[in-house]
Amino acid sequence: MLGFTKKEFVVLDAVPEDYAALANLHARNFPRGWSTSELEALAGQSTVTILSARLVGKPRLGPAAFNIIRQTDHEAEILSIAVDTTYRRSGLGLQLMRDAIRRLQADRVETLMLEVDATNVAAIHMYDKLGFETVGNRPGYYAAASDDPKANRATALVMRLELN
Ligand SMILES: CC(C)(COP(=O)(O)OP(=O)(O)OC[C@H]1O[C@@H](n2cnc3c(N)ncnc32)[C@H](O)[C@@H]1OP(=O)(O)O)[C@@H](O)C(=O)NCCC(=O)NCCS
Repeated sequence: MLGFTKKEFVVLDAVPEDYAALANLHARNFPRGWSTSELEALAGQSTVTILSARLVGKPRLGPAAFNIIRQTDHEAEILSIAVDTTYRRSGLGLQLMRDAIRRLQADRVETLMLEVDATNVAAIHMYDKLGFETVGNRPGYYAAASDDPKANRATALVMRLELN
């Protein structure tokens, strides 16, 4: 009998062989993509962690998602997170965020911050679900979606989660 199998993902620290595929995934999700060398430079910073998720049992498929986190002694920040469109709404975004939160709590980091486009309903719902609170906004923070110089730049919400 054919049955529905829920997709399972494993979250690991990204390795240099992942960077090109992750840059590709980043470029597909954000108007200003990060190149492979920019990801390499980020990964080389001791404060930055790049988490990469893969579909269990499909080692040849590229990364399905990433989460990039900057961490100092007491505070951390989500620099970028994205899930490939194929795998959206299967809990992977939450899985990547919860993995990052567990690691930060183990390191006794107290606060996790992020900025999100105020029109990004999917991401805001995900952060709400994790308990993030909106603590401010930055009008004009993001480049406009169109090249028209008169197009409005989007507002960023600043969100915070207390970790301990
Ligand atoms: C935001 C993003 C990472 C969510 O990833 P995902 O794997 O689809 O999210 P999940 O399946 O874990 O969903 C978690 C919760 O987020 C919310 N959510 C996710 N997608 C949503 C959508 N399209 N509309 C409304 N709520 C949504 C829901 O509350 C969902 O819980 P539910 O499925 O139980 O209702 C993904 O949409 C994405 O990569 N977007 C493009 C990049 C981006 O915007 N990154 C955030 C930058 S700040």
